[in-house]
Amino acid sequence: MAQPAEEEQAGVLRPMHTPIAIGSEQHKHLFCAVLLDTFDPYRPAVIDWPKLAPEAEARLRSLPFWGVAVETEENAGIRMQALADRTSDPLIREALALNAFEERRHREVLGHMMRFYGIELSGDITVPPPRHARWAFLRTGYGECFDSFFAFGLFDMARRANFFPPELVAVFEPVIQEEARHNLFFVNWAAYTRAALGWWRQPGFAVQRFAALAAQAANRLSSAKAVDGNNFTRTGGTALGLDLDPRRFLALCLAENERRLAPYDPRLLRPRLMPAAARLAIRLLSRGGAPR
Ligand SMILES: [Fe+2]
Ligand SMILES: [Fe+2]
Repeated sequence: MAQPAEEEQAGVLRPMHTPIAIGSEQHKHLFCAVLLDTFDPYRPAVIDWPKLAPEAEARLRSLPFWGVAVETEENAGIRMQALADRTSDPLIREALALNAFEERRHREVLGHMMRFYGIELSGDITVPPPRHARWAFLRTGYGECFDSFFAFGLFDMARRANFFPPELVAVFEPVIQEEARHNLFFVNWAAYTRAALGWWRQPGFAVQRFAALAAQAANRLSSAKAVDGNNFTRTGGTALGLDLDPRRFLALCLAENERRLAPYDPRLLRPRLMPAAARLAIRLLSRGGAPR
């Protein structure tokens, strides 16, 4: 629960809140309303892409993660829509459909940007619809929690280093902020869904969540180790020419994660796994005396 001082820092005025029970109808209304009410109606087709200096444009073109980014957004949109189509609760369905729309819009933003700056992808990206909608959504949700935690830090580092001109940073700001909203929605959806199941079905859901989390963690670890570095954070940081001192980078990710989630109702659950893992890693790195 955010302290009053944090609420002031976030510059957001909030009424005094009464606590809510996680898994209650009130909880459902709150986590759906937070997503639906904070929708940003920007339109990718009318984005005024800034003209870049030739070197900046060449650097942008040479970044290695556009293919992964497009595929990830495409996948997320299809999986979220699949769960929306199979959800009977109208409010949750509406929120899931908005989440899916925003992922498709991220894909569109990338498409417009790539056309404008002449970035080409090798090969077609086709993503089949998932066979098991809830399983696929859980994997996507945990995947977004991993990826965006690091993306928040990378984005801020790139902004501070003036790697991209401010006009381009401004275009991607709502895209990055939307991922914070999605993570918030996901962890609350998962807690609500668990509570709404009868007690006899909760263990099965817990196993499914844990398996999805483990599958995504294994996927990210193996891609981090891959020789071709098919991993957004690692290749992204190197390609951006940023100083990825592990402790400082994790501390920045933590701070950015907190800042991006601060404007939303403090009664909602926050993603906890990545912040806890980052804090633990910082402690272990400090003990090991890794260079600052
Ligand atoms: Fe996205
Ligand atoms: Fe997302």
